[in-house]
Amino acid sequence: MPPVPSVTIVDPAADPTVFDKADAVVVGVVPSATGPRLARGAKAVDAAMGNRLTVALKAAGATGRPGQVVKIPTLGLAPFGLVIATGIGSDQTGEAVRRAVGAALRAAAHPRVHIAVDAPIGAIVEGALLGGYRYTVYKSAPGKQIVRRVTVGAAATAENRSAMRTARTVAVAVQQARDLVNTPPNDLYPETFAARAVELAAAEALDIEVLDARALARGRYGGIVAVGAGSARPPRLVRLSYRPRRAVGHVALVGKGITFDSGGLNLKTAHLTWMKSDMAGAAAVLASTVAAAALRLPIAVTATVPMAENMPSGSAYRPSDIVTLRGGRSVEIADTDAEGRLVLADAISRAVEDEPDHLIEVSTLTGAQLIALGPRIIGAMGEPDWRDRVARCGNAAGESVWAMPLTEDLRAGLDSPVADLVNVPPDRWGAMLVGGQFLAEFMPDAMPWVHLDIAGPAWNAGGARDYTPQGGTGAGVRTIMACLHDLVAERG
Ligand code: BES
Ligand code: ZN
Ligand code: MN
Repeated sequence: MPPVPSVTIVDPAADPTVFDKADAVVVGVVPSATGPRLARGAKAVDAAMGNRLTVALKAAGATGRPGQVVKIPTLGLAPFGLVIATGIGSDQTGEAVRRAVGAALRAAAHPRVHIAVDAPIGAIVEGALLGGYRYTVYKSAPGKQIVRRVTVGAAATAENRSAMRTARTVAVAVQQARDLVNTPPNDLYPETFAARAVELAAAEALDIEVLDARALARGRYGGIVAVGAGSARPPRLVRLSYRPRRAVGHVALVGKGITFDSGGLNLKTAHLTWMKSDMAGAAAVLASTVAAAALRLPIAVTATVPMAENMPSGSAYRPSDIVTLRGGRSVEIADTDAEGRLVLADAISRAVEDEPDHLIEVSTLTGAQLIALGPRIIGAMGEPDWRDRVARCGNAAGESVWAMPLTEDLRAGLDSPVADLVNVPPDRWGAMLVGGQFLAEFMPDAMPWVHLDIAGPAWNAGGARDYTPQGGTGAGVRTIMACLHDLVAERG
């Protein structure tokens, strides 16, 4: 991973040299009846500019609306060369600040950036690190103009420092998830993906178990074996666990790790380049487990991650095959492109053998998620109380998560005349819910579980915006982390 910029809190009152040590300074702008107004935290910047900043912003066309970034050169008035003025909008929520700071850092092209915005430190730090992210691993000449050092103007209290550490760790996890998603499938396939998981685990001295193709066959992981059969790159199952000394509970995470989804013999005809993101759920749960350990959260976490490449070939599984999943149930394959639920059913069965208290499963499961909720809203299905709590935590953390229903009638479509289940019903209605219902078949009755369908949110096919780059977004990480924090706060 490219180096993450350092982030430090600097109290401008205690250290008047902050401006000397910055190349660019970020201020917030909010709209008002009389034009753009500086947001809280910008007073000293304005003073350094001879109190002419608002006039300059007006002249440059700044409005304070979200998404607008205006750069004002300081022309020798201040020790730093540039003011980056970012619109927050009139509703100055944490997410509005996160987005505004993200947009500013996305526009920043200087090594040392100071942020002069008076707002909750967590939102500022997340916005800065998420917005400053660039994926340059495959560029032969990665741009040199990259942010290396971020300072945030705030009181250097213990509370602020701790909030900064948490935000930084969460943002790094999001970046790790983005990096994994952005890595092309010729370099990221089950074997190398598992090796990356081993590296991530080593950084926090976590226990990790990797089952290879032989171990999967021996363990009767029929879904993972079938889906992986068409690829020259054999499948894996990774189990990453964090076991703190005093844990208030145990959360199982499960993430879909299809390193490339061609559809298999039911070959896709559209969106094929998008399908390198089909391991985004796996990336999110692995990065979150590592982040939980880095933060020393007093809650046990186990990530169970099936990794396979869904390819058509002479050894591929076929429509009409019947495969036996771990735990013994048989599934008729109606469509080899509904592969996620097969590898996930195996992984869920393994995860629940540990008897966790809660389960969060994250996957790019259905195109129907995009039809139903669009590219930005995560669909949440599962046990109603836990589902709603997960949605609440995710929304509070700045991800949009919307609860969707699972109803009895969905089950009938999964009946097969020849096996216990079929992987796809004969009609295509409510396909996001059907995916959730299929997974529900493998969840124990008494366990709070949720399925997060991140098919759209995991991948930004449009242009970069606020703190969201093109390509991999790291969707799911902030929701998972918010859930872990919420469980710790409740029981700790
Ligand atoms: N990986 C896809 C879902 C997907 C679609 C993710 C678009 C991201 C963007 C999944 O494996 C898939 O192919 N689902 C099928 C299911 C169908 C055959 C029931 C789909 O959504 O069409
Ligand atoms: Zn898929
Ligand atoms: Mn598919």
